[in-house]
Amino acid sequence: MPVALVTGANRGIGAEIARQLAADHAFTVLAGARDPGRVEPRDGVVPVELDVSDPASVDRAAERVAADSGRLDVLVNNAAIGGSYTDSAADSDLGEAHEILETNLFGAWRLSQALLHLLREAADARIVNISSGAGQLEDMQGGYPAYRISKAGLNALTRILAAEEPAVSVNSVCPGWVRTDMGGSAAPRSVEEGADTAVWLATTPDPPSGGFLRDRRPIPW
Ligand SMILES: NC(=O)c1ccc[n+]([C@@H]2O[C@H](COP(=O)([O-])OP(=O)(O)OC[C@H]3O[C@@H](n4cnc5c(N)ncnc54)[C@H](OP(=O)(O)O)[C@@H]3O)[C@@H](O)[C@H]2O)c1
Repeated sequence: MPVALVTGANRGIGAEIARQLAADHAFTVLAGARDPGRVEPRDGVVPVELDVSDPASVDRAAERVAADSGRLDVLVNNAAIGGSYTDSAADSDLGEAHEILETNLFGAWRLSQALLHLLREAADARIVNISSGAGQLEDMQGGYPAYRISKAGLNALTRILAAEEPAVSVNSVCPGWVRTDMGGSAAPRSVEEGADTAVWLATTPDPPSGGFLRDRRPIPW
């Protein structure tokens, strides 16, 4: 049975990606969460304590994946924190900016480093980085600069890993504007819609690599 690890899987888009991979695609899903007690119990979903901003927590989770499963086929780097939309680059608190990059960029990078040895052994390995249109250079705007920079950096990580790891399909996804704690209640998309492209990239035969996709189609960087 294939094994996936999804970060930030206790709520929002991450919880829905975990649900779909287990229910619709027969994955054993390791549901990474800072508080594993908040992962909704489901068949095929196994809570794993994981704070992606804490190197010791990442190491412990990676050891647990190796010890319990002995394999990893899919890593979904979903965990993220936002920033204030009213922040400007000129006035941002750089301490907060560091925290945002620590989770959104270095968290994904650190976890990828810790798990690549298992992914390289898989026959059909994938990394799906949950990014955002907010990180698109083509349409870069003002507002929440640290979040935007974290997602632009995550997109660069996607390209670099795709180039360096030919045996692993590595892609970035923009889920669209989704009704979650981060997206708010006015967002037009459901979590099911927000999870769709990530789940598709995790499961479709012959996936692309080095892409940035929304609605299963490439979008500009
Ligand atoms: N919602 C949107 O409209 C939208 C649009 C574009 C992109 N995205 C991206 O989609 C992804 C999911 O967003 P969402 O809307 O589902 O957000 P959300 O509802 O705020 O959920 C965020 C998840 O990330 C987890 N998390 C935060 N910091 C973490 C850490 N240090 N270690 C482990 N987990 C951590 C949270 O866990 P806790 O419960 O412990 O805080 C939570 O499970 C994010 O990458 C986001 O940037 C969302």
